[in-house]
Amino acid sequence: MLLNERSKVLIVDDERRNLIILTELLRDSHEVTVAKCGKQALEKANKLLPDLILLDIIMPDMNGFEVLTQLKKNKTTNAIPVIFITGLNAPDEERKGLTLGAQDYIYKPFSADVVKARVATQLKIIEQAKQLQQAKLKEKMASLGTLTAGVAHEINNPVNFAHVSADNLTADVTDLQHFIFDLAGDSLDQEVRDEFDSKFNQLFFHIKTIKEGTSRIKDLVEDLWSITLHDNPDKTDINIVQMLQSALAMTNTNLADVATFSTQFDELPTFYGYPGKLNQVFINVLLNACEAVHKKHLTHSDAPAGVISVHTRFSSGFIEIAIQDNGCGMNETSQQKIFEPFYTTKEVGDGTGLGMSMAFAIVEEQGGTIKVKSTLDKCSLITIYLPVTT
Ligand SMILES: Nc1ncnc2c1ncn2[C@@H]1O[C@H](COP(=O)(O)OP(=O)(O)OP(=O)(O)O)[C@@H](O)[C@H]1O
Ligand SMILES: [Mg+2]
Repeated sequence: MLLNERSKVLIVDDERRNLIILTELLRDSHEVTVAKCGKQALEKANKLLPDLILLDIIMPDMNGFEVLTQLKKNKTTNAIPVIFITGLNAPDEERKGLTLGAQDYIYKPFSADVVKARVATQLKIIEQAKQLQQAKLKEKMASLGTLTAGVAHEINNPVNFAHVSADNLTADVTDLQHFIFDLAGDSLDQEVRDEFDSKFNQLFFHIKTIKEGTSRIKDLVEDLWSITLHDNPDKTDINIVQMLQSALAMTNTNLADVATFSTQFDELPTFYGYPGKLNQVFINVLLNACEAVHKKHLTHSDAPAGVISVHTRFSSGFIEIAIQDNGCGMNETSQQKIFEPFYTTKEVGDGTGLGMSMAFAIVEEQGGTIKVKSTLDKCSLITIYLPVTT
């Protein structure tokens, strides 16, 4: 289900007959759900997050316009496209629907071909918009990658000098300390000795701080290198399921009480790629999922128990790895920026915001794609597609 690519269509109509006809028309190529009234439509839209809603206008209690207004007000459902299905053939009504944000109209009595064609067109527009977004992201990442590589390279040398010099400084100050105490000999007054000790301790403390700082910069430069494309000679055949299992074991020990893991591993062909880097991708995504569940529990004490599910399958020449969590989810901005280097919603100092940009670069470098789908306060799904060439 998680990896099912069939689009989800919600049909809303108070007439049973219409629901049956439309379901029959669409169910071969889509996953169809029905709602008999406005209230039910809002509940199901919120829960199922359909890709498209076919909405009747004239219904008792809550009409189609009111349903659309509510859908648009709710940040979980406001991006779901809506096609009105109506017996009304009045331009005013059509204008009202379009102003409220409907995508299209289908008039009753409808012809099977028109319904199918309009639904297919809307779904195609959505798919194209997603592809365009992915292409833009790739372009952006490519230029950011070049910039990042340049910056990483420029920082690498000076930070290494500073790190090595801090090491040398420790040795030099230790020598100086011994030299002074040897020179003073045993007759040195205890008070003066204590004064020297305290001065030297302060010096060692400052050198240690410099070394901690340069170590952090060195780690950061190493991470930056991972998000830039460069040749790596250690490609090998990888058993993805085994790799996921070890990544899960690692993540599990870190954050065992946050969430339970549920897995479903279909048999997969081996993937020829970079094992170290790919392992890093899985760990980054799993850690984010754990953090998202933890964050949700901090803000919603009544939230359901955390579950992180990991599914794999092989389809159309691609290994698909879907990692889903029921954590805090992401708003639109986060979903758009998640793969950008340094984008983070964590407090300053808590995270670098490089985890997902590294994942993006590593997956792309190996010919794959990584996608995000999320609903704020509900769930996030990260899907990784890796090509298997035979
Ligand atoms: N599963 C998820 N659920 C909710 N938000 C997520 C999830 N994964 C990523 N994010 C969002 O994307 C942002 C960027 O993620 P990324 O892994 O790149 O950096 P980070 O986790 O903030 O920092 P770091 O990985 O360096 O510790 C996160 O700060 C968070 O807002
Ligand atoms: Mg992260």
